Amino acid sequence: MSILVTGAAGFIGSNFVLDWFLDSDEDLVSLDLLTYAGNLKNLSSLEGNPHHHFVKGNIGDEKLIVDLFKTYKFRAIINFAAESHVDRSIYQADSFINTNILGTYKLLEAARVCWNDLNEKLQKDFRFLHVSTDEVYGSLEKLDEPFSETSRYEPNNPYSASKASSDHLVRAWHHTYNLPTLITNCSNNYGPYQFPEKLIPLTIINALNGNSIPIYGDGKNIRDWLYVKDHCSAIRNILNNGSVGEVYNVGGSNEKTNLEVVRMLCLILDKIKPLESGLSYSNQIRFVKDRAGHDRRYAINATKLEKDLNWKPRETFETGIKKTVEWYLENPEWVKKVLNGDYKNWVQKHYA
Ligand code: NAD
Ligand code: TYD
Repeated sequence: MSILVTGAAGFIGSNFVLDWFLDSDEDLVSLDLLTYAGNLKNLSSLEGNPHHHFVKGNIGDEKLIVDLFKTYKFRAIINFAAESHVDRSIYQADSFINTNILGTYKLLEAARVCWNDLNEKLQKDFRFLHVSTDEVYGSLEKLDEPFSETSRYEPNNPYSASKASSDHLVRAWHHTYNLPTLITNCSNNYGPYQFPEKLIPLTIINALNGNSIPIYGDGKNIRDWLYVKDHCSAIRNILNNGSVGEVYNVGGSNEKTNLEVVRMLCLILDKIKPLESGLSYSNQIRFVKDRAGHDRRYAINATKLEKDLNWKPRETFETGIKKTVEWYLENPEWVKKVLNGDYKNWVQKHYA
């Protein structure tokens, strides 16, 4: 028996796989298409581990998934694979529709066909865990209650709409075909191996490179931040203990405006990597044109996960953000490798 992790070379997927092998020697297949966001280097510490198998491939390739299922006899599939960047979805939504909707559909179909062939015991124990986002619930006003599992789906951009569609497919595959599914909707993650198109790594890297730090609009949009390792521990817990067919919201109750996050990053850098000029990195902050359809506030109520499954995040925002800055400072080679031609083209196009 083994587990299949899709999107395993991306930010959260790679953190999940690395953490998995800290206390497991169960076989695990990492499947990833290695798009611009996938980086095999994230998994390089697993080279030579006989229990880890990397496969380059598409979640939309049903035959590949069925063949892998036959070879590795999956007891669980954890689906991280997705196009994940809102700004890119606004420029061009095709790959979001293809991977997040059609890809999830094909993966579900492959899982259903293979699951149907299992004996009763294996069918009962099998899990298809779909990793999703709080962005499917849309945007909150300042005084609204945080999103719960029963909040209405109101996605506002192509990324969140494609994730919402995939959640609906997973739900339907459970209700119609009894596939034992779980869905997680998590708030914004940060931590090691995050591609520097997202706010926190982009800020750290632009600050260190002496570039301007772009803040969209008035900088008062709010996100609810969770350290990536805490998201991974929640997923492992839900995989082991979650009730089939259920949805679990995951979040750390760390609501911050973008401006607060960026200022905090600048302060940490001022302390641990002070500029020779004696100035603060915060002088590099620039307000730029707002994102189209920019959601104002996300916040998660994770009570169900905390009460039913006894999960709690280990990091506060203060401890997690410090660890994150330190990781980027300690891994200049990783940073250098991801700032390739494709990344430079994106920055040029988007921030011009
Ligand atoms: P990411 O963009 O860093 O990684 C996605 C990975 O999926 C990449 O390695 C990419 O190569 C791979 N991939 C893309 N298309 C594929 C395909 N068709 N077949 C196989 N692999 C493919 O994203 P992430 O931030 O690690 O997010 C992982 C999942 O978690 C996504 O489903 C995302 O919606 C969800 N999520 C992310 C956050 C966040 O803050 N980053 C928060 C909540 C939920
Ligand atoms: P991002 O990291 O792209 O995550 P998401 O859009 O999924 O929440 O953005 C986080 C917040 O930071 C969001 O409100 C947009 C904002 N932002 C900026 O202000 N400047 C930037 O350069 C980026 C990438 C994001």
